Amino acid sequence: MQIIGILNVPRNKNMKKYLVIGNPIEHSLSPKLHNYWLNKNKIDGNYEKKLLTEEKVGEFLRSNQNISGINVTVPFKKTVLNYCTELTELASSSQSVNTIILSNDKIIGDNTDVYGFEQSLKDLNFHGLNKTAFILGAGGVVASVVIALNNLGVKNIVISNRTKNKAEALAKDYNLVVSDWGKIVDFDIVINCTSIGLNQDDSLGLDFSEVKDKIFYDIIYKPKTKFLIDAESSDNQIIDGKMMFLYQAQKSFEIWHGIKPEINKEVINLLND
Ligand code: ATR
Repeated sequence: MQIIGILNVPRNKNMKKYLVIGNPIEHSLSPKLHNYWLNKNKIDGNYEKKLLTEEKVGEFLRSNQNISGINVTVPFKKTVLNYCTELTELASSSQSVNTIILSNDKIIGDNTDVYGFEQSLKDLNFHGLNKTAFILGAGGVVASVVIALNNLGVKNIVISNRTKNKAEALAKDYNLVVSDWGKIVDFDIVINCTSIGLNQDDSLGLDFSEVKDKIFYDIIYKPKTKFLIDAESSDNQIIDGKMMFLYQAQKSFEIWHGIKPEINKEVINLLND
């Protein structure tokens, strides 16, 4: 496997077809967003979504000659590592691919989730110095969140996951502290990286009722999770995954088309419809 810098990624001049793969995929707003930007920027292309099963991912990546770019969502961000012929440094360090560039016979894996998460916090003037971050979950997105937090200067990161050994594995790789699931540690920012909240009735079963004036971030962008609703009612600052989603998409678009599409009110509203 070759590790490359993103600036060396070769661009295919005839890019036309893009899509997002995942399972489930019905809820994905990526097609709406990318097609809007393609249209606004007068690029002759089309972006669709594709439901896949784990066994079909490799075959799909290798067989689709006329696809130029693919976004990868849950649960395949790790799976696709096995089929990429090259990885960018970020995809390699996070072991997570959400953006693929298909060029000639190459399947190049990149990661724009790190940028997405980092930029969403930069927008809010978040400074990481002397801050403690508390991460809930140990799934595919956590490494990207950790790298972004490190980039923002956060040195103290505590991770807690229902299945402790998954948290321990990440802690070893990224120098984190593990806390037992159910225990609430002191923190400045807590980030829900679990899948709990995707269904409106989902509850993490953690008691944050005593916590005030902190930042609660949920990677999930829709609907507003119970985690955030409860945090807001206890006078905490809340951030949902909307801006992270928009920024990761913006970066993917830029990688594929060489144009940084605009994020404005109209674009943000696309996600609210
Ligand atoms: P992915 O890697 O695709 O992001 P994942 O590996 O299924 O998704 O991660 C989902 C995360 O949500 C995990 O941290 C998972 O905890 P486990 O490792 O213990 O499975 C967490 N999660 C899912 N359902 C949960 C629940 N009911 N309570 C607590 N955590 C849960």
